[in-house]
Amino acid sequence: MSDEANTENHDARIVIRNLLHLEGSPYELAEDARRGLTSSPKWMPPKYFYDARGSELFERITAQPEYYQTSTELEILQRIAPLIVDRVRPTALIEFGSGSASKTRVLLDEMRRAGQLGAYGMLDVSEAASRAAAVALVATYPRLEVECVIADFEQPQPLPFPGRRRLLAFLGSTIGNFEVEAAQAFLRGPAERMRDDDAFLIGFDLVKDRETIERAYNDAAGVTEAFNRNLLMVLNRELGADFDPSAFDHKAFYNESASRIEMHLVAKRAQSVRVTDLDMTVEFAPGETLRTELSHKYTRRSVEALLEAGNLALDMWETDPDQKFALGLARRR
Ligand code: AVJ
Repeated sequence: MSDEANTENHDARIVIRNLLHLEGSPYELAEDARRGLTSSPKWMPPKYFYDARGSELFERITAQPEYYQTSTELEILQRIAPLIVDRVRPTALIEFGSGSASKTRVLLDEMRRAGQLGAYGMLDVSEAASRAAAVALVATYPRLEVECVIADFEQPQPLPFPGRRRLLAFLGSTIGNFEVEAAQAFLRGPAERMRDDDAFLIGFDLVKDRETIERAYNDAAGVTEAFNRNLLMVLNRELGADFDPSAFDHKAFYNESASRIEMHLVAKRAQSVRVTDLDMTVEFAPGETLRTELSHKYTRRSVEALLEAGNLALDMWETDPDQKFALGLARRR
């Protein structure tokens, strides 16, 4: 078992540790689909969006003019990266849900400038995306050691490079995908494993006017819509389901009382969907929704409360001039 979990790459500087194949892994599409599709209302966890096509569609979302989050976060990050690196003096960067790792480079460049770039660790569910990112990173940074932990980071995972001073990063406001309680529980994992001089940089999409938020999830080019429907193609392929993606409408709206975007797929008409691998038929009434994603929006106060519940405390808070997005630097409490 442990042989399977630890794969040495061809490049001695890259270690890939795949924990998803270990017995008892909670990253179980079949279980989650059975639970979500038999619930009322129906729902699916958003982590299953990210197959190869879903990851590519998400990258395209980040380039849409309506999706202000990515460019705004990058702007803030470019401005404050020197401050963060001077304050934390990390020799390792550890990133959650790193995806294509493009924002990562801003931090790695700054660590290199400060003469303290040693290691990069990432936790992500996609082995293919992680491997590609790792190969590209070692090509750019000649002495960088990379460790990829392929795992569902919703479950507490050991953090790479425990012997180094670490800057942890969870960017893009991906933390907003969690229910409030789950976000608190998630934070307690890293908080417990951090040392007093480690720090955790987290991206938060901020509460703002409804129009701006809703436009970001209803882009004119229809990329978000395609991203949303792609979940059905994942279910078709992985579980032998026969969803007709064109029989569902994309719907994304801001739920103001819960401060979150809710993304749904709405059945255009009555339909019954066979899910072969679950030996199950799922009935949809006309207009019935399948909730595919939550994306919470934050204020400085709600972030402080969230961090406190996660055994962390805010050490630094930086936003763009229009207060659309924030980066918070947290320490162990
Ligand atoms: C990657 C979770 C931060 O919630 O804005 C973008 C995903 N979904 N458009 C977000 C997403 C639809 C994104 N996160």
